Amino acid sequence: MAKEIPTMFSKLLMFICLFMFMLNFHSSHGEQQEFELLLSFKSSIHYDPHNFLSSWMNTSSNTICKWQGITCDNWSHVNTVSLSGKNISGEVSSSMFQFAHVTNLDLSNNQLVGEVVFNAPFLSSLLYLNLSNNNFTGPLPQSLFSSPFINLETLDLSNNMFSGKIPDQIGLLSSLTYLDLGGNVLVGKIPNSITNMTSIESLTLASNQLVGEIPTEISLMKRLKLIYLGYNNLSGEIPNNIGNLLSLNQLDLVYNNLSGPIPESIGNLTNLRYIFLYLNKLTGPIPESIFQLKNLVSLDLSDNYLSGEISNLVVNLQKLEILHLFSNNFTGQIPNTITSLPHLQVLQLWSNKLTGEIPQTLGMHNNLTILDLSSNNLTGKIPNSLCTSQNLQKLILFSNSLRGEIPNGLTSCKTLLRVRLQNNELSGKLPTEITQLPQIYLLDISGNKLSGRINGIKWKMPSLQMLNLANNNFTGELPNSFGSNKLEGLDFSHNHFSGFIQIRFRKLLELVQLKLNNNNLSGKFPEEIFKCKNLVSLDLSHNQLSGEIPAKVAEMPVLGLLDLSENQFSGEIPKSLGSVESLVDVNISYNNFHGSLPSTEAFFAINASSVAGNKLCGGDSDGTNGLPPCKSDNQMNSATVLVLVCFVLTVFVTLSGAVLFVRRRTKSFEVRKVVENEDGSWEVIFFDHKASKSIKIEDVLSSVKEGKVITKGRNWVSYEGKCISNDMQFVVKEINDANSVSVSFWDETVTFGQKVKHANIVKLIGMFRCGKKVYLVNEFEDGKSLSEIMHNLSWQRRIKIALVNRKDVPRLQLNLPGIGISFIGINGFGSSSYIAPEKRKGKEVTEKSEIYSFGIMLIELLTGRTPEDIEAVQKKNNIVEWARYCYTDCHLDTWIDPVIMKGEDLSAYQNDIVDTMNLALHCTAGDPTTRPCARDVVKVLETVQCNRITFC
Ligand SMILES: *[C@@H]1O[C@H](CO)[C@@H](O)[C@H](O)[C@H]1NC(C)=O
Ligand SMILES: *[C@@H]1O[C@H](CO)[C@@H](O)[C@H](O)[C@H]1NC(C)=O
Ligand SMILES: *[C@@H]1O[C@H](CO)[C@@H](O)[C@H](O)[C@H]1NC(C)=O
Ligand SMILES: *[C@@H]1O[C@H](CO)[C@@H](O)[C@H](O)[C@H]1NC(C)=O
Ligand SMILES: *[C@@H]1O[C@H](CO)[C@@H](O)[C@H](O)[C@H]1NC(C)=O
Repeated sequence: MAKEIPTMFSKLLMFICLFMFMLNFHSSHGEQQEFELLLSFKSSIHYDPHNFLSSWMNTSSNTICKWQGITCDNWSHVNTVSLSGKNISGEVSSSMFQFAHVTNLDLSNNQLVGEVVFNAPFLSSLLYLNLSNNNFTGPLPQSLFSSPFINLETLDLSNNMFSGKIPDQIGLLSSLTYLDLGGNVLVGKIPNSITNMTSIESLTLASNQLVGEIPTEISLMKRLKLIYLGYNNLSGEIPNNIGNLLSLNQLDLVYNNLSGPIPESIGNLTNLRYIFLYLNKLTGPIPESIFQLKNLVSLDLSDNYLSGEISNLVVNLQKLEILHLFSNNFTGQIPNTITSLPHLQVLQLWSNKLTGEIPQTLGMHNNLTILDLSSNNLTGKIPNSLCTSQNLQKLILFSNSLRGEIPNGLTSCKTLLRVRLQNNELSGKLPTEITQLPQIYLLDISGNKLSGRINGIKWKMPSLQMLNLANNNFTGELPNSFGSNKLEGLDFSHNHFSGFIQIRFRKLLELVQLKLNNNNLSGKFPEEIFKCKNLVSLDLSHNQLSGEIPAKVAEMPVLGLLDLSENQFSGEIPKSLGSVESLVDVNISYNNFHGSLPSTEAFFAINASSVAGNKLCGGDSDGTNGLPPCKSDNQMNSATVLVLVCFVLTVFVTLSGAVLFVRRRTKSFEVRKVVENEDGSWEVIFFDHKASKSIKIEDVLSSVKEGKVITKGRNWVSYEGKCISNDMQFVVKEINDANSVSVSFWDETVTFGQKVKHANIVKLIGMFRCGKKVYLVNEFEDGKSLSEIMHNLSWQRRIKIALVNRKDVPRLQLNLPGIGISFIGINGFGSSSYIAPEKRKGKEVTEKSEIYSFGIMLIELLTGRTPEDIEAVQKKNNIVEWARYCYTDCHLDTWIDPVIMKGEDLSAYQNDIVDTMNLALHCTAGDPTTRPCARDVVKVLETVQCNRITFC
C-alpha cells in the first residue's frame, strides 16, 4: 500500500508531464502557424511609414506575442491584431483572415486594398472586426455572413469600396451590437433579415446606393440607439412602428427619397436627441408629438415639402440648440414661445411662407449665433434683442417686408460676420456704430429705404470684403475709406450720392467690382482706380462725370466691363482702351465723345446702343454700331470684312470662356516614320514640321526621368523635354499601359493630332510607340494647368470666375496659354470627360463641342470637384452624370467640395449656384443641337451676374 502511493503519484506525474508536453507541442505548432501568417501579412505590406511592423521579425516564432499590435491569450494564441491608423499600405493578404483564435481584428484607417476573402472555420472566434477607412474592393466577404460568425459583436466595414448587395444572410449575425457599412458602393435593398439583429445598438448604412423601403420590422431592433441610413436612394414612408425603438437617440435618414408624413409615433421616442430628416420628400405637418421629445438637441427637417404652422409647443424642447425648417412650405407666424428656448443657437427658417412679425424678444433668452429667416413674408421691425447672447455671427433676413430702422441692439454686436438685410423696407439712417464693427465681412443692406449721409463717420470695418448699399436713398458724398483693405466689392449704385469720387482706391487693392452708377456724382474719372489691378467690373454710368478717359485705362489687366454711359465725359476714346484684351463689355453711350472708335476686339462687336449719343465715327461696313464711317478711313475691302466677321465670332467665343475659336482649316502637316533602336522599332508620327526635324526618340527617352516630372495623372506622367541638338523644348506625356486604357487609343489620338489645331489648345506635335510604350509629345507651354490653378482657388474666387468676371475666364486663356492643355492636352487623357462625346468619336469640332467643355469647366469651378474626384469620392464615373444626379437629388452642401468651402455659408449663393449649374447641365447635354450657343451662354451668365451674385 505504502508502495503504491508513490507509484500512483509518479503515474499521475507522468500523465501530467505528457499532457503538458502535448499541450506545449500543440501550442508551439499553433505559434509556428500564426508566426507564418503574420509574416506573410507583413510581406504583403509595401509601405509602412512609421515602421510599425519592424518588430515583426523573421527570427523566432515564440516572440510573436511581443510584436507590436499583437496580443495573445493565456495559451499564447494571437487573439488581437490591432493595426489601426498605422498608414500601412499594400494589397491585403488573405493570411490575415486565417487565424483560429483571433477575437479582435482591427485594420482600420490604413491604405489597404484588394478583396477581403474569409474562409470559415478561420476567424470563427471573432467578436470585433474593423476594416473601415481602407480601399478594400469587391463584394462584402460572403462567408462572413454565416453561422460561424454568429457571435460577432462589432462589424465595421465603412468607407471602403465594397460593392454589390448586402447579403440576405446578414440576419444571421444576430449578436451584432454595432454595424457600419456606410461609405461604400453597395446597391440593392436593405435585407429584411437585418431586423433579426435584436441586440444592435448602432446601425449605419449611409452613403451607399441602396434603394427600396426601410424594413418595416425595424421595430424589432429594440436596442437601437443610432440609425443612420442617409445619402442613399431609399423610398417609401418612414415606418410607423419606428415609434417602438424606445432607446433611439439619433435618427438620421437624410438625403433619400422618403415620402409621406413624419409618423406621429416618433413622439414616443423620448430619448431622441437628434432628428435629421432633411432632403427628402416628406409632406404634411410636423406631428405635434415631436414636441414631447424633451431631450431633443437638434431638429432638422429642412428641404422637404412639409406644410402647416410651427406649433407653440416648440417651447417644450428646452434643450434645443439647432432648429432647421428651411425650404419647406410652412405658413403662419414664428411661434412666440421660441424666444424661451435657452440653448437655441441656430434658427434657420428661410424659404417658407411665414408671415407676421419676428417675435420681438427673440434672442433675449436664447443663445443665437445664426439666424436666417430670409425669403419669407415677414413684416414688422427687426427685434432689438437678437444679439443679446453676444454670440450672433450671421444675421440673414433678406427678402421679407421688414420695416423700421436697423435696431441699436445690432450695432453693438461685435461678433457679427455676415449681415444681409437687403430687399426689405428698412428706413432711417445707417447707424454709425455698424460702420465700426470689427468682424463683418459682408454687409448687404441694398434695396431698402435707408437715407442720410454716410461720409461724416470714420468707417472702421477691417474685415469688410463686400459692401452693398445700392438702391437706397443715401445722400452726400461717398466715404473715402472704409477702414478695410480687403474690399472686393463695393456697390453704391441707385442712390443720391453727389460730389467728387474721393475713395482712396490705393488702399483697396483687392477690389474686383465697383458700382457707383445712377447717382449724382461729378468731377473727373477717378484715376486712382487704376491701382486696383484686380478690377473686373467698373460701372460709373448715369452720373455727371466729365473730362476725358485717362489713357492709363490700358493698364487694367483684367477689366472686363466698363460702363461710362450717360455722363458728360468728353474727348476721344483713348486708343489704349482698345488694347485692354480682357474687355468684353463697354458702354460709352450718351457722353460727349468725339473722334473714331478704337479698332480693336472689344469695339468690333459693340452694338449701336453702346456707342450712341456721342459724336463718334468708325462705322463698320455692316452698320451694326450705327456710326458713320470716319472720313479718313479707307474703304474696307472684302478681306477685311471677313477678318472682322471672324473677330466678332472670336469675341463671342471668348466671352464664353473656354469656347475656342476654330481656325480656318489648312492642310495639316503629318510625317510618319519607323525608327529602330535597342527597344525595337518605333512607330513615329509628327504633326509639326519643326518637331519632325528636331525631336528624336533619344530626346524623348532622355526626358522621361524622375527629376523632370511636370504633372501626373491616373495613367500618365508628363515630363519636361528638350532636344539635345537645338534646345527646342517640348512636353512628353508617358502613357502607362495604353492598351488597357482603350484599344482604339492610338488611333483616336492620331485623329486628334490631325484635326485639332487650335490657338487655345496646346498642340500635339508628335507620337511615339514601341510595343506597350507610348509617348505623346506636346508643344511646350509655360502656363499653368487648369487643375493647378483651380486647386488653390477659394470658393469665393471660383464663383467669381464663373459668374462675375466673365472676363476672368478668358483671362485663363489669355494670360495662361497653357490652360488649353487642360481641356485636351495635359489632362486630356486623365480627364477625357472634358471632351464632348461626339468629339471623342472623332467627329468634327463644332462650337457646340466647345460649349460642352465649357459646361464641364463650369461644373468644376462651381463645385471644386474634378472628374477624378467624382470618381473617387462620389463614386460616379462621370462628372456630368454626377452633376445631373446632384442637381435633382442633392443637398447643395454636397455639391461643393467641403475643402474649398472652408465653412462658408452657401445659402447666400443658392440661387446663383442653381442657375449656373442648370446652365452647365444644358451645356453638357448629350445631343449637341440642344446645347445653347455661346451667345446664349453669355446672356445667362449675365443675368446671374446682374441679378444676384455681385453682392451675395
Ligand atoms: C483609395 O484610392 C484612391 C485612388 O485609387 C486614393 O486617392 C485614396 O486616397 C485611397 N483611399 C484610402 C483611404 O487609402
Ligand atoms: C436569426 O438569428 C438566429 C440566431 O439568433 C438564426 O438562427 C436565424 O436563422 C436568423 N434568422 C435570419 C432570418 O437570419
Ligand atoms: C406611441 O404613442 C401613441 C400616442 O402618441 C400611443 O397611442 C402608442 O401606443 C405608442 N406606441 C408605442 C409603440 O409605444
Ligand atoms: C406649397 O404649397 C402650395 C399651396 O399652398 C403648393 O401649390 C405648392 O406646391 C407647395 N410646395 C411644395 C414644395 O410642396
Ligand atoms: C451658447 O453658445 C455658445 C457657442 O456659440 C456655447 O459655447 C455656449 O455654451 C452656449 N451657452 C448656452 C447657455 O447654451
